[in-house]
Amino acid sequence: MSTENRAAVHDAFGRPLRDLRISVTDRCNFRCPYCMPAEVFGERYQFLPRAEILTFEEIARLAGVFSRLGVVKLRLTGGEPTIRADLPRLVAMLAAIGGIEDLTLTTNGYLLAKLAQSLRDAGLKRITVSLDSLDEEVFKRMNGRNFGTQPVLEGIAAAEVAGLSPIKINCVAQRGVNDHTIVGLVRHFRGTGHIVRFIEFMDVGTLNGWDMKQVVPAEEIVSRIDSEFPLRQIPPAYRGETALRYRFVDGSGEIGVIASVTRPFCGDCTRARLSTDGKLVTCLFAAGGKDLRGPMRSGASDDDLRDIILGVWSRRRDRYSEDRAGLVAAGAGPANRRKIEMYQIGG
Ligand code: GTP
Ligand code: 5AD
Ligand code: SF4
Ligand code: SF4
Repeated sequence: MSTENRAAVHDAFGRPLRDLRISVTDRCNFRCPYCMPAEVFGERYQFLPRAEILTFEEIARLAGVFSRLGVVKLRLTGGEPTIRADLPRLVAMLAAIGGIEDLTLTTNGYLLAKLAQSLRDAGLKRITVSLDSLDEEVFKRMNGRNFGTQPVLEGIAAAEVAGLSPIKINCVAQRGVNDHTIVGLVRHFRGTGHIVRFIEFMDVGTLNGWDMKQVVPAEEIVSRIDSEFPLRQIPPAYRGETALRYRFVDGSGEIGVIASVTRPFCGDCTRARLSTDGKLVTCLFAAGGKDLRGPMRSGASDDDLRDIILGVWSRRRDRYSEDRAGLVAAGAGPANRRKIEMYQIGG
C-alpha cells in the first residue's frame, strides 16, 4: 500500500497509533509465577477453543487495516508465540504488508533453536528472548516448569546464526527471587552484541500477587551494574521506547531498563494490542477490549474495521502506569481492579 493511503490517527492525548502487539496464542509451555502461576493454570485450565482464536488470515487482514491507520511496527507475542503451529507462515503474511518497518517477536526461547532460521526466512527482522536468570535453580523456579537454561541459550545462538539481530534478552527483576543474578546476566552477554534489558516487576493482570516490595527499581539495577561495569546513559532509539538505554563505557555494548513502575512512559505510548481472540486492547492494564473478530466474521469490510479501530483509538485515554501511584493510594490499585491477564496479550 502506498504511504499516501495511510492516515495517522491520534488518541485523546495526541498519541499516534504506531505499534501493534499481536498475541497469537493464549497458551504457554512455561508457568512463570509472575504471569501464569501453575496453581491457576493447571491441567484443567480451559484455554481458548480453536474457533475463538483468530486465524492467520484474520490476523493478517487486521494488521493490514492497522497499517493503513499508521502502524509501522508489529510484534508477535502470546502466551508463547512459538507454540502456535506454522508460525513462519504468519510471519510471511505479515512481512508482505506494505509500510511495516519492524517485524519482531517476543519469546521464551525454549523452542527457538529449531524455528529461528525459518522465521528469518519468512521475513522476521529481529527477536527478543525472555531469560530471567542464568542460575539454573533460579531459572527453574521462575519458569515454573523446572526447565533448564540450555534450550534457551541454544535458541539465542540459533537466532544469532540466522541473523535475527539485534537480539534483546528480557529479564523481569524480582527482589528476593532473581535480583542477585542480575549482574551475572550482564557479564554473560556483555560483548556479544545482544542487549540485556531488565524489566521492573509489574502489576499486570490479577494473578501474580504483585507487591511494590518485590520491585527492584531501575535506578538500583543500573547502579548495581554500573559498580561492576561502568555505564553511561544514551538517548532512546525511537520515540516512546519502553527501555532506558545505557552503554558500557568500555564499548562492550549496551543494556536497558524498563522502568514501567518507577518511571512510567505512558506519555509517548503508541502501542495497541490485539488479543488472541481478536480484541483491540489499548493498554496493558486495560480491563478488556473492543471485539474485532465478531464484526470481521459477520461481514465487516476493511473500511468498517478501520472505522471501529479509529473510533476506539481516538477516544483512548489510557495511562495506567502514570496513574498507578494515585490508584494504589485510593484503594483502586493492583488487587482491586479488573485487568486483562498478561497471557492474553503478551505484555
Ligand atoms: P522493543 O521494540 O525492542 O523496544 O521492545 P518492547 O520493549 O516494546 O517489547 P517487549 O515485548 O520486549 O517488552 C518488554 C517489556 O516491556 C515487557 O515486560 C512488556 O510487558 C513491557 N511493555 C511493552 N510495552 C509496554 C507498554 O506499553 N506499557 C507497559 N507498562 N509495559 C510495556
Ligand atoms: N512484569 C514485568 N514483565 C513481565 N513479563 C511477563 N509478566 C511480567 C510482569 N508481571 C514479561 C515477560 C516477557 C515480556 C513480554 O513481558 O517476561 O519478557
Ligand atoms: Fe509464558 Fe512468557 Fe508468561 Fe512466562 S511470561 S508464562 S514465558 S507467556
Ligand atoms: Fe501504554 Fe498503558 Fe503501558 Fe501506559 S501503562 S505505557 S498507556 S500500555
